Amino acid sequence: KRVTVLMGGLSAEREVSLASGANCASALKEAGYAVETLDAGTDLGHLIAQLQQQKPDVVFNALHGRYGEDGNIQGVLNLLKIPYTHSGLMASSIAMDKTMAKRLFTDAGLRVPEGKLLSRAEVMAGDPMPRPYVVKPYNEGSSVGVNIIRPGDNAKPFAGIDWPYGEFVLVERFIPGRELTCGIMGDEAMAVTELRPKSGFYDYANKYTEGFTEHLIPAPLPADVYAECQRMAVAAYKAVGCRGVARCDFRYDDTGTGGVGEVYLLEINTQPGFTALSLVPEMARHAGIPYPKLVSWMVERAQC
Ligand code: DAL
Ligand code: MG
Repeated sequence: KRVTVLMGGLSAEREVSLASGANCASALKEAGYAVETLDAGTDLGHLIAQLQQQKPDVVFNALHGRYGEDGNIQGVLNLLKIPYTHSGLMASSIAMDKTMAKRLFTDAGLRVPEGKLLSRAEVMAGDPMPRPYVVKPYNEGSSVGVNIIRPGDNAKPFAGIDWPYGEFVLVERFIPGRELTCGIMGDEAMAVTELRPKSGFYDYANKYTEGFTEHLIPAPLPADVYAECQRMAVAAYKAVGCRGVARCDFRYDDTGTGGVGEVYLLEINTQPGFTALSLVPEMARHAGIPYPKLVSWMVERAQC
C-alpha cells in the first residue's frame, strides 16, 4: 500500500506533529509500506494537488490540533475519498471542542470536572469559581495555554496571561491528585499510565522534554481505580464515536477518600501524540505491540 503521512500543519502543535509524523513514517517504512510525507502547510489547493499527485491508498494523519484534529482535514479527505487513520469528521470535531465533548461525556454518565465556558472579560472580572481552578483554551492540545489559578496567586491572575486563543475560555475546577492517561485501540482499553512530572504539572515542556516526566506503566493504582479508567476511556471513545486509536486523559483525586468516585475524565484526544516520548506507542509496547505493528494496525483500519 501507498501511505502518505500528513504532518506539520498550522496549529500550535505543529512541532509535535512533525515529530509524530517523522516517527510514524519510519515505522511505516519498516512495516513495508511505500511511504511519502506531506506537510499540510498553509495552502489547501496545494495540499489537494499534492495528494492527487501522490495518490495514496491511505493517509496516515499525524496532524494535531486545529485543522488536523478538528474535522477540517477529515472533511477534505472524505471529499477526496481517500481513507485516513483515526477518527472521522464528527468525532474529531466534537473531541477537539472540550465543551461539546463534556456534554456527551455527561450524557454517558462519565464524571468530568465541573466547568463552564466563559468570555475572557468574565474571567478577567474576578474568580469565576473558588480556587484552585484551571483556565484553558477549549480547543487546543498538548496543554498549550493551560493555567492553574491557585489560592494566593494575584487577585486577577488572568489579566497577566498572554492569551492568543480567542474570546472564550474553559474554566474548570482543578482536581488535585494524580495525572493518568489511557489509550483506546478499536474499542479496547490499553494500559493506564501515570505521569509524574519532576516539577509542576504535565505541561508542554514536561510532555516533550526527555527526562522531565516519569511514566509509570502500568499505573500503580488500586485495581478498581485502574479498571474504572479503562472503562471510562472506552465509554468516552464510544460516546464520541471515535475510530482507530485515541487516548483519554484523567485526574485521580487520591488526596481524600480516593476510590473510583474520584476519577475525572478531562478529555479524549483523537490524534494522540506519536513522538518518541508519547504515550500510546508506549502503551502498545507494553502490550507487546511494537511501533511498526501499531501503525500497520491503524493503516489497515483506515476509512473515509
Ligand atoms: N495533543 C497531543 C498531541 C496529545 O494529546 O498527545
Ligand atoms: Mg488534548
